[in-house]
Amino acid sequence: MKVNGVAHPAPADSRRLLSDHLRHDLGLTGTSDHLRHDLGLTGTHVGCEHGVCGCCTVLFDGAPVRSCLMLAVQAEGHEVTTIEGLAAPGAPLHPVQQAFHECHGLQCGFCTPGFVMSVVGLLREHPNPTPDQVDEGISGNLCRCTGYASIRRAVHRASELSKK
Ligand code: FES
Ligand code: FES
Repeated sequence: MKVNGVAHPAPADSRRLLSDHLRHDLGLTGTSDHLRHDLGLTGTHVGCEHGVCGCCTVLFDGAPVRSCLMLAVQAEGHEVTTIEGLAAPGAPLHPVQQAFHECHGLQCGFCTPGFVMSVVGLLREHPNPTPDQVDEGISGNLCRCTGYASIRRAVHRASELSKK
């Protein structure tokens, strides 16, 4: 599979979740075989681990998916993009990241990577989203801390920034 544009071997353990495969790190978690190819990309967060909260959202061939509901081996031959893949360290932020920053869409921060990846997918499908399309696009991501007003504003701002 390709992750953030770089080819990686499949994990040795066919039961490994994509979310665990992306996040875990051989150096941190030991040397057992099933961890050998894990990637240590901890920007993808894990909340519920059963497909409800959206924290673990990544792009799978450009479309948002919940990485906690997929096996890593299902990504073989596909392209996965995580939050780390949106902008290189030191480079300008991706327009969606910039918009979340400007509009205080980050709030708690824990759910933010999932929101950002969902919004990247949303804007690919609807570059000028209506309020209903925004609501639909972020409906799979739960905010439990504050509310959606800033996040909605951030989506519209990201739409503007994406055209510049
Ligand atoms: S951790 Fe995957 S949807 Fe909650
Ligand atoms: S912004 Fe993360 S739970 Fe509300």
